[in-house]
Amino acid sequence: MQYAQLREFPTDFLWGASTSAYQVEGGWDADGKGPSVIDARTHLPEGTTDFTVASDHYHRYAEDVELFAELGLKAYRFSIAWTRIQPTGTGPVNRAGADFYHRLIDALVAQGIEPIVTMYHFDLPQALDDQGGWANRDTVDAFAEYARVVFAEYGSKVRYWLTINEQNMMILHGDAVGTTGQAGATGKKGLYQQNHHMFLAQARAMALCHELLPDARIGPAPNIVSVYPATPAPEDVLAADDWDAVRNLLYLDLAVRGSYHPLAWAYLAERGWEPDIAEGDLDLLAAAKPDFIAFNYYSTQTVGASRGDASDLQTRGTDQQLVRGEVGLYRAEKNPHLQTNAFGWEIDPVGFRTTLRRTWDRYRLPLIITENGIGAFDQLVDGRVHDDYRIDYYRRHIEQIRLAITDGVDVFGYCPWAAIDLISTHQGCSKRYGFIYVNRDEFDLLDLARVRKDSFGWYRRVIDANGSRLED
Ligand code: BG6
Repeated sequence: MQYAQLREFPTDFLWGASTSAYQVEGGWDADGKGPSVIDARTHLPEGTTDFTVASDHYHRYAEDVELFAELGLKAYRFSIAWTRIQPTGTGPVNRAGADFYHRLIDALVAQGIEPIVTMYHFDLPQALDDQGGWANRDTVDAFAEYARVVFAEYGSKVRYWLTINEQNMMILHGDAVGTTGQAGATGKKGLYQQNHHMFLAQARAMALCHELLPDARIGPAPNIVSVYPATPAPEDVLAADDWDAVRNLLYLDLAVRGSYHPLAWAYLAERGWEPDIAEGDLDLLAAAKPDFIAFNYYSTQTVGASRGDASDLQTRGTDQQLVRGEVGLYRAEKNPHLQTNAFGWEIDPVGFRTTLRRTWDRYRLPLIITENGIGAFDQLVDGRVHDDYRIDYYRRHIEQIRLAITDGVDVFGYCPWAAIDLISTHQGCSKRYGFIYVNRDEFDLLDLARVRKDSFGWYRRVIDANGSRLED
Protein backbone atom coordinates (compact mmCIF):
# COMPACT_ATOMS: atom_id res chain seq x y z
CA MET A 1 0.00 0.00 0.00
CA GLN A 2 1.19 3.52 -0.74
CA TYR A 3 0.55 6.43 1.60
CA ALA A 4 0.43 10.18 1.17
CA GLN A 5 1.15 10.62 4.85
CA LEU A 6 3.33 8.38 7.01
CA ARG A 7 2.92 7.86 10.73
CA GLU A 8 5.73 9.09 12.95
CA PHE A 9 7.90 6.74 14.97
CA PRO A 10 6.61 6.57 18.56
CA THR A 11 8.31 9.18 20.75
CA ASP A 12 9.69 6.47 23.04
CA PHE A 13 10.97 4.35 20.16
CA LEU A 14 14.08 2.43 21.20
CA TRP A 15 16.73 3.44 18.69
CA GLY A 16 19.50 1.06 19.58
CA ALA A 17 22.34 -1.13 18.41
CA SER A 18 23.47 -4.67 19.20
CA THR A 19 26.44 -6.85 20.02
CA SER A 20 27.00 -10.24 21.60
CA ALA A 21 29.42 -11.13 24.37
CA TYR A 22 31.81 -13.49 22.64
CA GLN A 23 31.98 -11.42 19.47
CA VAL A 24 32.87 -8.12 21.14
CA GLU A 25 34.24 -8.62 24.63
CA GLY A 26 37.50 -10.54 24.42
CA GLY A 27 38.85 -11.23 27.90
CA TRP A 28 37.94 -14.81 27.14
CA ASP A 29 39.41 -16.15 30.40
CA ALA A 30 39.53 -12.93 32.44
CA ASP A 31 38.46 -12.77 36.07
CA GLY A 32 37.49 -16.40 36.39
CA LYS A 33 35.50 -16.75 33.19
CA GLY A 34 35.09 -20.37 32.13
CA PRO A 35 35.38 -21.60 28.54
CA SER A 36 32.33 -21.69 26.30
CA VAL A 37 31.81 -23.84 23.22
CA ILE A 38 33.09 -20.88 21.22
CA ASP A 39 36.35 -20.76 23.18
CA ALA A 40 36.73 -24.49 22.76
CA ARG A 41 36.45 -24.39 18.97
CA THR A 42 39.53 -25.94 17.45
CA HIS A 43 38.78 -25.23 13.80
CA LEU A 44 38.21 -21.72 12.59
CA PRO A 45 37.80 -20.87 8.92
CA GLU A 46 41.19 -20.27 7.37
CA GLY A 47 42.50 -16.74 7.67
CA THR A 48 40.10 -15.68 10.43
CA THR A 49 40.89 -14.62 13.95
CA ASP A 50 39.75 -16.39 17.08
CA PHE A 51 37.59 -14.70 19.73
CA THR A 52 40.13 -14.31 22.52
CA VAL A 53 40.53 -10.52 22.25
CA ALA A 54 37.72 -9.58 19.84
CA SER A 55 37.16 -5.81 20.22
CA ASP A 56 38.44 -5.85 23.80
CA HIS A 57 35.15 -4.41 24.99
CA TYR A 58 35.64 -6.21 28.31
CA HIS A 59 38.42 -3.75 29.11
CA ARG A 60 37.17 -0.78 27.10
CA TYR A 61 33.45 -0.86 27.86
CA ALA A 62 33.54 2.57 29.56
CA GLU A 63 34.97 4.26 26.47
CA ASP A 64 32.52 2.32 24.31
CA VAL A 65 29.50 3.36 26.36
CA GLU A 66 30.65 6.99 26.08
CA LEU A 67 30.62 6.55 22.33
CA PHE A 68 27.20 4.89 22.40
CA ALA A 69 25.91 7.91 24.30
CA GLU A 70 27.45 10.25 21.74
CA LEU A 71 25.81 8.15 19.03
CA GLY A 72 22.54 8.95 20.77
CA LEU A 73 21.51 5.36 21.47
CA LYS A 74 18.33 4.96 23.47
CA ALA A 75 19.00 1.24 23.89
CA TYR A 76 21.91 -1.14 23.73
CA ARG A 77 21.34 -4.82 23.17
CA PHE A 78 24.16 -7.05 24.39
CA SER A 79 24.47 -10.57 25.72
CA ILE A 80 25.70 -11.90 29.02
CA ALA A 81 28.35 -14.59 28.77
CA TRP A 82 26.95 -17.38 30.92
CA THR A 83 30.54 -18.52 31.62
CA ARG A 84 31.43 -15.20 33.27
CA ILE A 85 28.56 -15.68 35.70
CA GLN A 86 28.87 -19.44 36.20
CA PRO A 87 32.19 -20.63 34.73
CA THR A 88 31.03 -24.24 34.43
CA GLY A 89 27.40 -23.45 33.73
CA THR A 90 26.14 -24.35 37.20
CA GLY A 91 27.11 -23.52 40.75
CA PRO A 92 28.09 -20.37 42.58
CA VAL A 93 28.30 -16.96 41.00
CA ASN A 94 31.71 -15.82 39.86
CA ARG A 95 31.58 -12.39 41.50
CA ALA A 96 34.21 -10.71 39.31
CA GLY A 97 32.42 -11.82 36.15
CA ALA A 98 29.02 -10.75 37.44
CA ASP A 99 30.44 -7.37 38.43
CA PHE A 100 31.52 -6.68 34.88
CA TYR A 101 27.88 -6.59 33.76
CA HIS A 102 26.94 -4.46 36.75
CA ARG A 103 29.53 -1.93 35.66
CA LEU A 104 28.38 -2.08 32.05
CA ILE A 105 24.69 -1.77 32.92
CA ASP A 106 25.34 1.03 35.40
CA ALA A 107 27.32 2.93 32.78
CA LEU A 108 24.49 2.52 30.27
CA VAL A 109 21.79 3.54 32.71
CA ALA A 110 23.83 6.58 33.75
CA GLN A 111 23.76 7.67 30.11
CA GLY A 112 20.02 7.05 29.81
CA ILE A 113 20.57 4.02 27.55
CA GLU A 114 18.11 1.17 28.07
CA PRO A 115 19.93 -2.16 28.49
CA ILE A 116 18.38 -5.00 26.48
CA VAL A 117 19.96 -8.24 27.64
CA THR A 118 20.26 -11.44 25.67
CA MET A 119 20.71 -14.29 28.12
CA TYR A 120 22.40 -16.69 25.71
CA HIS A 121 23.97 -15.91 22.36
CA PHE A 122 25.61 -19.09 20.97
CA ASP A 123 28.15 -19.45 23.83
CA LEU A 124 27.03 -22.43 25.89
CA PRO A 125 29.41 -23.25 28.77
CA GLN A 126 31.84 -25.91 27.57
CA ALA A 127 31.44 -27.79 30.85
CA LEU A 128 27.76 -28.32 30.03
CA ASP A 129 28.64 -29.31 26.52
CA ASP A 130 30.98 -31.95 27.93
CA GLN A 131 27.94 -33.45 29.61
CA GLY A 132 25.92 -33.56 26.40
CA GLY A 133 25.01 -29.90 25.94
CA TRP A 134 21.42 -29.32 24.88
CA ALA A 135 21.02 -33.03 24.19
CA ASN A 136 21.10 -33.50 27.94
CA ARG A 137 17.86 -32.46 29.64
CA ASP A 138 19.85 -31.32 32.67
CA THR A 139 20.94 -28.32 30.60
CA VAL A 140 17.34 -27.08 30.82
CA ASP A 141 17.66 -27.01 34.61
CA ALA A 142 21.06 -25.35 34.34
CA PHE A 143 19.60 -22.61 32.15
CA ALA A 144 16.72 -22.05 34.55
CA GLU A 145 19.20 -21.75 37.41
CA TYR A 146 21.31 -19.33 35.39
CA ALA A 147 18.16 -17.34 34.58
CA ARG A 148 17.35 -17.10 38.26
CA VAL A 149 20.88 -15.81 38.93
CA VAL A 150 20.85 -13.11 36.27
CA PHE A 151 17.33 -11.99 37.16
CA ALA A 152 18.44 -11.66 40.80
CA GLU A 153 21.65 -9.85 39.85
CA TYR A 154 20.35 -7.43 37.27
CA GLY A 155 16.57 -7.50 37.55
CA SER A 156 16.40 -4.17 39.36
CA LYS A 157 18.22 -2.45 36.47
CA VAL A 158 17.18 -4.32 33.33
CA ARG A 159 13.63 -4.15 31.96
CA TYR A 160 14.07 -5.95 28.64
CA TRP A 161 15.24 -9.55 28.42
CA LEU A 162 15.80 -11.79 25.43
CA THR A 163 16.01 -15.52 26.05
CA ILE A 164 18.01 -17.27 23.32
CA ASN A 165 19.55 -15.67 20.28
CA GLU A 166 18.69 -17.34 16.97
CA GLN A 167 17.80 -20.76 18.24
CA ASN A 168 16.68 -21.53 14.68
CA MET A 169 20.13 -20.72 13.28
CA MET A 170 21.78 -22.96 15.88
CA ILE A 171 19.60 -25.83 14.72
CA LEU A 172 19.61 -25.14 10.98
CA HIS A 173 23.08 -23.66 10.57
CA GLY A 174 25.01 -24.68 13.66
CA ASP A 175 28.02 -25.38 11.46
CA ALA A 176 28.08 -21.72 10.37
CA VAL A 177 27.52 -20.10 13.74
CA GLY A 178 29.93 -22.44 15.48
CA THR A 179 27.62 -24.41 17.75
CA THR A 180 27.26 -27.73 15.95
CA GLY A 181 30.34 -29.17 17.60
CA GLN A 182 28.19 -29.70 20.66
CA ALA A 183 28.21 -33.26 21.96
CA GLY A 184 25.01 -35.01 21.10
CA ALA A 185 24.53 -33.26 17.79
CA THR A 186 24.56 -36.55 15.99
CA GLY A 187 22.06 -36.32 13.24
CA LYS A 188 18.86 -34.40 12.93
CA LYS A 189 16.88 -36.44 15.43
CA GLY A 190 19.39 -35.41 18.08
CA LEU A 191 19.35 -31.81 16.89
CA TYR A 192 15.59 -31.57 17.19
CA GLN A 193 15.78 -33.07 20.65
CA GLN A 194 18.23 -30.28 21.53
CA ASN A 195 15.80 -27.85 19.98
CA HIS A 196 13.00 -29.14 22.20
CA HIS A 197 15.17 -28.73 25.27
CA MET A 198 15.98 -25.16 24.29
CA PHE A 199 12.26 -24.45 23.98
CA LEU A 200 11.78 -25.79 27.49
CA ALA A 201 14.68 -23.70 28.77
CA GLN A 202 13.20 -20.62 27.14
CA ALA A 203 9.77 -21.33 28.62
CA ARG A 204 11.27 -21.79 32.08
CA ALA A 205 13.12 -18.48 31.77
CA MET A 206 10.02 -16.60 30.61
CA ALA A 207 7.89 -17.99 33.44
CA LEU A 208 10.58 -17.22 35.98
CA CYS A 209 11.01 -13.69 34.69
CA HIS A 210 7.30 -13.01 35.13
CA GLU A 211 7.32 -14.54 38.59
CA LEU A 212 10.40 -12.70 39.88
CA LEU A 213 10.30 -9.45 37.91
CA PRO A 214 6.71 -8.36 37.35
CA ASP A 215 7.78 -5.11 35.68
CA ALA A 216 10.23 -6.70 33.27
CA ARG A 217 9.44 -7.82 29.75
CA ILE A 218 10.88 -10.87 28.04
CA GLY A 219 10.77 -12.36 24.57
CA PRO A 220 12.50 -14.75 22.18
CA ALA A 221 15.04 -13.59 19.57
CA PRO A 222 14.96 -15.86 16.52
CA ASN A 223 16.15 -14.99 13.03
CA ILE A 224 13.00 -14.42 10.99
CA VAL A 225 12.72 -13.84 7.25
CA SER A 226 9.87 -13.85 4.79
CA VAL A 227 10.03 -16.77 2.40
CA TYR A 228 9.01 -16.04 -1.19
CA PRO A 229 7.90 -18.56 -3.79
CA ALA A 230 10.20 -18.42 -6.82
CA THR A 231 7.17 -18.29 -9.16
CA PRO A 232 3.37 -18.18 -8.81
CA ALA A 233 3.27 -21.94 -9.52
CA PRO A 234 1.12 -23.42 -6.73
CA GLU A 235 3.85 -25.98 -5.99
CA ASP A 236 6.35 -23.19 -5.38
CA VAL A 237 3.89 -21.39 -3.11
CA LEU A 238 3.46 -24.61 -1.11
CA ALA A 239 7.22 -25.05 -0.87
CA ALA A 240 7.52 -21.49 0.48
CA ASP A 241 4.88 -22.29 3.11
CA ASP A 242 6.67 -25.49 4.04
CA TRP A 243 10.03 -23.83 4.46
CA ASP A 244 8.46 -20.92 6.34
CA ALA A 245 7.00 -23.44 8.81
CA VAL A 246 10.29 -25.27 9.35
CA ARG A 247 12.53 -22.20 9.41
CA ASN A 248 10.39 -19.55 11.12
CA LEU A 249 7.02 -20.64 12.46
CA LEU A 250 8.27 -23.65 14.38
CA TYR A 251 10.29 -21.24 16.54
CA LEU A 252 7.75 -18.45 16.81
CA ASP A 253 4.79 -20.72 17.51
CA LEU A 254 6.64 -22.54 20.27
CA ALA A 255 7.71 -19.30 21.89
CA VAL A 256 4.39 -17.49 21.59
CA ARG A 257 1.71 -20.19 21.48
CA GLY A 258 3.65 -22.90 23.25
CA SER A 259 2.85 -25.54 20.67
CA TYR A 260 4.49 -27.21 17.69
CA HIS A 261 3.41 -25.78 14.35
CA PRO A 262 1.47 -28.60 12.64
CA LEU A 263 3.37 -28.42 9.34
CA ALA A 264 6.71 -28.34 11.11
CA TRP A 265 5.66 -31.30 13.22
CA ALA A 266 4.54 -33.19 10.10
CA TYR A 267 7.99 -32.51 8.62
CA LEU A 268 9.71 -33.89 11.71
CA ALA A 269 7.43 -36.92 11.99
CA GLU A 270 7.80 -37.82 8.31
CA ARG A 271 11.55 -38.01 8.78
CA GLY A 272 11.51 -39.69 12.17
CA TRP A 273 13.08 -36.60 13.75
CA GLU A 274 10.33 -35.67 16.17
CA PRO A 275 11.65 -35.10 19.70
CA ASP A 276 10.65 -37.13 22.71
CA ILE A 277 8.24 -35.06 24.72
CA ALA A 278 8.11 -35.80 28.42
CA GLU A 279 5.03 -35.53 30.56
CA GLY A 280 4.43 -31.94 31.52
CA ASP A 281 6.52 -30.45 28.68
CA LEU A 282 3.55 -29.25 26.68
CA ASP A 283 1.97 -27.62 29.73
CA LEU A 284 5.21 -25.86 30.51
CA LEU A 285 5.51 -24.59 26.95
CA ALA A 286 1.91 -23.44 26.82
CA ALA A 287 2.14 -21.62 30.14
CA ALA A 288 5.07 -19.39 29.17
CA LYS A 289 4.01 -16.21 27.42
CA PRO A 290 6.43 -13.68 25.94
CA ASP A 291 5.65 -9.98 26.22
CA PHE A 292 7.06 -9.15 22.80
CA ILE A 293 8.84 -10.73 19.86
CA ALA A 294 12.41 -9.72 19.14
CA PHE A 295 13.79 -10.89 15.85
CA ASN A 296 16.88 -10.55 13.70
CA TYR A 297 16.41 -9.75 10.03
CA TYR A 298 19.04 -9.65 7.32
CA SER A 299 17.33 -10.83 4.17
CA THR A 300 14.48 -12.81 2.67
CA GLN A 301 14.69 -16.25 1.10
CA THR A 302 13.29 -17.47 -2.20
CA VAL A 303 12.43 -21.09 -2.78
CA GLY A 304 10.81 -23.40 -5.29
CA ALA A 305 9.26 -26.85 -5.17
CA SER A 306 11.70 -29.66 -4.54
CA ARG A 307 12.64 -31.70 -7.59
CA GLY A 308 13.57 -34.52 -5.29
CA ASP A 309 17.24 -34.68 -6.21
CA ALA A 310 20.53 -33.07 -5.33
CA SER A 311 19.88 -30.18 -7.71
CA ASP A 312 17.63 -28.78 -4.93
CA LEU A 313 20.75 -27.93 -2.96
CA GLN A 314 22.79 -24.78 -3.30
CA THR A 315 26.49 -25.38 -2.93
CA ARG A 316 27.41 -21.88 -1.89
CA GLY A 317 29.04 -23.05 1.30
CA THR A 318 28.11 -22.77 4.89
CA ASP A 319 26.36 -19.58 5.85
CA GLN A 320 23.33 -18.91 7.99
CA GLN A 321 21.77 -16.47 5.52
CA LEU A 322 22.19 -18.42 2.31
CA VAL A 323 19.31 -20.55 1.13
CA ARG A 324 20.40 -24.14 1.22
CA GLY A 325 17.54 -26.27 -0.10
CA GLU A 326 16.47 -29.64 1.22
CA VAL A 327 15.52 -32.58 -0.93
CA GLY A 328 11.82 -33.30 -0.55
CA LEU A 329 11.10 -29.96 1.09
CA TYR A 330 12.22 -26.99 -0.97
CA ARG A 331 14.63 -25.95 -3.62
CA ALA A 332 17.00 -23.03 -3.14
CA GLU A 333 16.49 -20.25 -5.67
CA LYS A 334 18.09 -16.89 -6.27
CA ASN A 335 15.86 -13.85 -6.27
CA PRO A 336 16.63 -11.99 -9.53
CA HIS A 337 15.14 -8.77 -8.12
CA LEU A 338 17.61 -8.39 -5.29
CA GLN A 339 21.19 -7.25 -5.07
CA THR A 340 23.66 -8.93 -2.75
CA ASN A 341 26.27 -7.66 -0.34
CA ALA A 342 29.96 -8.55 -0.54
CA PHE A 343 29.22 -11.89 1.13
CA GLY A 344 26.38 -12.96 -1.14
CA TRP A 345 23.58 -12.01 1.29
CA GLU A 346 20.57 -10.65 -0.56
CA ILE A 347 19.49 -7.15 0.43
CA ASP A 348 15.72 -6.78 0.71
CA PRO A 349 14.36 -3.74 2.56
CA VAL A 350 10.81 -4.26 1.26
CA GLY A 351 10.98 -7.83 2.53
CA PHE A 352 11.69 -6.32 5.94
CA ARG A 353 8.29 -4.61 5.87
CA THR A 354 6.69 -7.87 4.72
CA THR A 355 8.36 -9.75 7.58
CA LEU A 356 7.21 -7.16 10.12
CA ARG A 357 3.66 -7.27 8.78
CA ARG A 358 3.46 -11.07 8.69
CA THR A 359 4.87 -11.47 12.18
CA TRP A 360 2.53 -8.86 13.63
CA ASP A 361 -0.41 -10.30 11.74
CA ARG A 362 0.14 -13.78 13.10
CA TYR A 363 1.01 -13.02 16.73
CA ARG A 364 -0.15 -9.49 17.56
CA LEU A 365 2.73 -8.92 19.94
CA PRO A 366 4.89 -5.78 19.96
CA LEU A 367 7.99 -6.23 17.81
CA ILE A 368 11.58 -5.14 18.20
CA ILE A 369 14.29 -5.77 15.64
CA THR A 370 17.40 -6.92 17.47
CA GLU A 371 19.69 -7.33 14.45
CA ASN A 372 19.80 -5.94 10.94
CA GLY A 373 22.88 -4.78 9.11
CA ILE A 374 25.43 -5.15 6.37
CA GLY A 375 28.79 -6.85 6.69
CA ALA A 376 31.46 -5.14 4.61
CA PHE A 377 35.22 -4.83 4.17
CA ASP A 378 35.35 -1.30 5.58
CA GLN A 379 38.58 0.59 4.98
CA LEU A 380 40.21 3.05 7.35
CA VAL A 381 41.74 5.76 5.17
CA ASP A 382 43.32 8.88 6.69
CA GLY A 383 41.43 8.27 9.90
CA ARG A 384 38.03 8.03 8.22
CA VAL A 385 35.71 5.22 7.19
CA HIS A 386 33.38 6.18 4.37
CA ASP A 387 30.68 3.51 4.68
CA ASP A 388 28.05 5.08 2.47
CA TYR A 389 26.81 1.56 1.54
CA ARG A 390 25.91 1.05 5.22
CA ILE A 391 24.08 4.37 5.38
CA ASP A 392 22.19 3.40 2.25
CA TYR A 393 21.34 -0.03 3.69
CA TYR A 394 20.02 1.43 6.95
CA ARG A 395 18.16 4.25 5.28
CA ARG A 396 16.27 1.80 3.10
CA HIS A 397 15.46 -0.49 6.03
CA ILE A 398 14.38 2.28 8.41
CA GLU A 399 12.07 3.64 5.69
CA GLN A 400 10.38 0.24 5.67
CA ILE A 401 9.94 0.21 9.45
CA ARG A 402 8.13 3.52 9.17
CA LEU A 403 5.92 2.12 6.43
CA ALA A 404 5.19 -0.94 8.58
CA ILE A 405 4.28 1.34 11.47
CA THR A 406 1.95 3.19 9.11
CA ASP A 407 0.51 -0.20 8.14
CA GLY A 408 -0.46 -0.59 11.79
CA VAL A 409 2.38 -2.82 12.99
CA ASP A 410 3.45 -2.24 16.60
CA VAL A 411 7.23 -1.82 16.41
CA PHE A 412 8.89 -0.42 19.52
CA GLY A 413 12.59 -0.62 18.76
CA TYR A 414 15.36 -1.13 16.25
CA CYS A 415 18.81 -2.41 17.19
CA PRO A 416 21.04 -2.73 14.13
CA TRP A 417 23.99 -5.08 14.05
CA ALA A 418 26.30 -3.80 15.25
CA ALA A 419 27.02 -0.98 17.66
CA ILE A 420 30.74 -1.44 17.14
CA ASP A 421 32.94 -3.67 14.98
CA LEU A 422 33.19 -7.19 16.30
CA ILE A 423 34.11 -10.64 15.10
CA SER A 424 31.74 -12.30 12.65
CA THR A 425 30.44 -15.75 13.55
CA HIS A 426 32.58 -17.41 10.88
CA GLN A 427 34.09 -14.74 8.67
CA GLY A 428 36.57 -13.03 10.95
CA CYS A 429 36.92 -9.37 11.86
CA SER A 430 37.43 -8.13 8.32
CA LYS A 431 33.69 -8.54 7.83
CA ARG A 432 32.69 -5.41 9.70
CA TYR A 433 29.28 -4.29 10.89
CA GLY A 434 29.74 -1.47 13.40
CA PHE A 435 29.03 2.25 13.50
CA ILE A 436 32.38 2.38 15.27
CA TYR A 437 35.49 1.02 13.61
CA VAL A 438 37.91 -1.00 15.73
CA ASN A 439 41.47 -0.70 14.54
CA ARG A 440 42.70 -4.28 14.34
CA ASP A 441 42.97 -6.90 11.67
CA GLU A 442 42.66 -10.67 11.68
CA PHE A 443 45.96 -11.44 13.36
CA ASP A 444 47.45 -8.07 14.30
CA LEU A 445 45.68 -6.28 17.14
CA LEU A 446 47.23 -2.91 16.17
CA ASP A 447 45.98 -0.38 18.74
CA LEU A 448 42.28 -1.38 18.87
CA ALA A 449 41.45 2.33 18.66
CA ARG A 450 37.84 3.33 18.13
CA VAL A 451 37.01 5.45 15.06
CA ARG A 452 33.58 6.89 14.25
CA LYS A 453 32.52 5.79 10.77
CA ASP A 454 30.44 8.05 8.52
CA SER A 455 27.40 5.94 9.46
CA PHE A 456 27.95 6.99 13.08
CA GLY A 457 27.15 10.64 12.40
CA TRP A 458 24.31 9.70 10.08
CA TYR A 459 22.63 7.38 12.62
CA ARG A 460 23.02 10.01 15.33
CA ARG A 461 21.12 12.49 13.16
CA VAL A 462 18.42 9.90 12.45
CA ILE A 463 17.99 9.28 16.17
CA ASP A 464 17.94 13.03 16.87
CA ALA A 465 15.12 13.42 14.37
CA ASN A 466 13.33 10.31 15.72
CA GLY A 467 13.55 8.75 12.29
CA SER A 468 11.72 11.54 10.50
CA ARG A 469 14.78 12.50 8.40
CA LEU A 470 16.95 9.86 6.79
CA GLU A 471 18.95 11.87 4.29
CA ASP A 472 22.69 12.47 4.78
C1 BG6 B 1 23.39 -13.43 13.33
C2 BG6 B 1 23.99 -13.59 14.69
O1 BG6 B 1 23.26 -14.71 12.77
O2 BG6 B 1 24.06 -12.72 12.36
C3 BG6 B 1 25.18 -12.72 14.98
O3 BG6 B 1 23.04 -13.45 15.71
C4 BG6 B 1 26.00 -12.58 13.72
O4 BG6 B 1 25.88 -13.28 16.05
C5 BG6 B 1 25.16 -11.89 12.67
O5 BG6 B 1 27.22 -11.94 13.90
C6 BG6 B 1 25.91 -11.62 11.38
O6 BG6 B 1 26.42 -12.82 10.90
P1 BG6 B 1 27.95 -13.05 10.58
O7 BG6 B 1 28.03 -14.50 10.25
O8 BG6 B 1 28.27 -12.18 9.45
O9 BG6 B 1 28.70 -12.71 11.80
